[in-house]
Amino acid sequence: MKLVDRTKISAAALALVSLSALSAGFLEATPAFAKDTQQHPAVLNASAVAVADKYAADAAEQIFKEGGNAVDAAVAIAFSLAVTYPEAGNIGGGGFMTLYVNGKPYFLDYRERAPLAATRTMYQDEQGNVIPGKSLYGYDAVGVPGTVEGMWEAQKRFGKLSWKQVLQPAIEYARDGFVVGELLAKRREEASKEFDGKTNFDQYFGNMKMGETFKQPDLANVLTRIANQGAKDFYDGKTADLIAASMKGHGLITKRDLQEYKAVWRQPVEANWNGYEVITAPPPSSGGVGLVQLLKMKADLAPQFKDVPLNSPQYIHLIAEIEKRVFADRAQYLGDPDFYKVPVAQLTDDAYIAKRAAEVDPDKPSDTKSVQAGLGTSMPEKAETTHFSVVDKWGNAVSNTYTINGYFGSGVVVPGAGIVLNDEMDDFSAKPGVPNMFGVVGSDANAIAPKKRPLSSMSPTILTKDGKVSLVIGTPGGSRIFTSIFQVINNIYDFKMPLKDAVGAMRFHHQLLPPNTIFWEPYEPINGDLAKQVEAKGYVLKGQDFNGDIQAIRIDGDTPEAVADPRGRGVTRIVQ
Ligand code: GLY
Repeated sequence: MKLVDRTKISAAALALVSLSALSAGFLEATPAFAKDTQQHPAVLNASAVAVADKYAADAAEQIFKEGGNAVDAAVAIAFSLAVTYPEAGNIGGGGFMTLYVNGKPYFLDYRERAPLAATRTMYQDEQGNVIPGKSLYGYDAVGVPGTVEGMWEAQKRFGKLSWKQVLQPAIEYARDGFVVGELLAKRREEASKEFDGKTNFDQYFGNMKMGETFKQPDLANVLTRIANQGAKDFYDGKTADLIAASMKGHGLITKRDLQEYKAVWRQPVEANWNGYEVITAPPPSSGGVGLVQLLKMKADLAPQFKDVPLNSPQYIHLIAEIEKRVFADRAQYLGDPDFYKVPVAQLTDDAYIAKRAAEVDPDKPSDTKSVQAGLGTSMPEKAETTHFSVVDKWGNAVSNTYTINGYFGSGVVVPGAGIVLNDEMDDFSAKPGVPNMFGVVGSDANAIAPKKRPLSSMSPTILTKDGKVSLVIGTPGGSRIFTSIFQVINNIYDFKMPLKDAVGAMRFHHQLLPPNTIFWEPYEPINGDLAKQVEAKGYVLKGQDFNGDIQAIRIDGDTPEAVADPRGRGVTRIVQ
């Protein structure tokens, strides 16, 4: 049994895990935890999803109609997106799932891990310089994928339907094909240019054209084997052999890496905020800690925010001041908790956050150097990734963000398997302790080590009130993930905006470095003078063409409302 549970589980459940670890084979079909088979009465008048494409939404709808719950729908979505949203959906990457099931919070970490042969300096040349692109493209960039085991563990623990049922939509999309839309075709074209024949990307995706049906027979075979054999096929069967064979002579991942891969049930980060319980991602995500710090610091600064209009120059300044402090902590303290003791409780402690809030200068940007707890990993981070939110009529919720890092990951497609492999190794600090060309020093907390998980910003989040789900939210966006979620939560709860407007509103981002730089969406100014007024406060404004792709569900009474970000091709479904 490959499961590790770091949540508060009962001694009986622990005994069950260790007993099965002794007696059972690798990734066997027996679930680690007895399923909660209790039938609960419906508490909502519908189930709902917000997801990055319509094919995955169709899959979720089918699963709900077959009697599946939020976890069944989530797993069906994850496998479907691996086929129909191949730029970020995946089985060759990893991610985080925050769940609220039968009134209890859970968090599943299925982030990729560094291969056993990985070293701290593997992306440096003999002079100790970081080799450009080595952690981004090709076999060297790939971390050991976790998505299949993550989905397996979640579905085995909480799903109602059979494993085969939830795989079926993805198998059909891969085998029979799906019609390629404009945005996917555009991203494919850009990826082809970026990989520029340096990987085998075009052999698999070169003929993907807008408006045409695209089939992936190798991937269909992999998904069919996974449906029949469970995660075992991916980690110890024919698919594992294909992945390991593709790496020979090119990359570091071996069959042993796959066999030893573990998903981890962790204690989610939880915080009381504004009468809500915020349930979000713990390390190796920096996002949950960051989100809680942002929310609490803004609450502490309520007098400063009084009567300050949304997205006004003063609002942008105050939020940037908060973000500056959050990113300073992120740089210093966040990494894989299995390798580095991350002080989560201290970082989210009310008194500590009040102290940091008191340092905010209401008039002008604080000096960057005086804020930082230690200049850190604010290196450019890939913004892609994808998120989906799900609730079922029994009141369960899944908030899932998963990734292959950049669009189409490393550009490597496993020959004979059609699996796009991630470039998640780029999320480690390639050169900890030494300033890079921007004067940025990578933190030791996020140095490369065998089996270690790279620091992430993915922050699948659920808000509950009085034990009932109120909001399910998440987004891609690299380091912009948790600042985006933060802004949408502000829009909903502080500015009382309808969900659609809250998600659609302009977003901006500051992350300590580059100094006093605000990334924003210049195409939607509140008024023509906004840029000038923000610059007059001492900031540099930079446009950014990717501002996330929020997928959110809000529950009002017994009615769920779902919104997909207008910035992407996401859709929503309400299923009675
Ligand atoms: N690769 C993006 C993230 O993990 O946040």
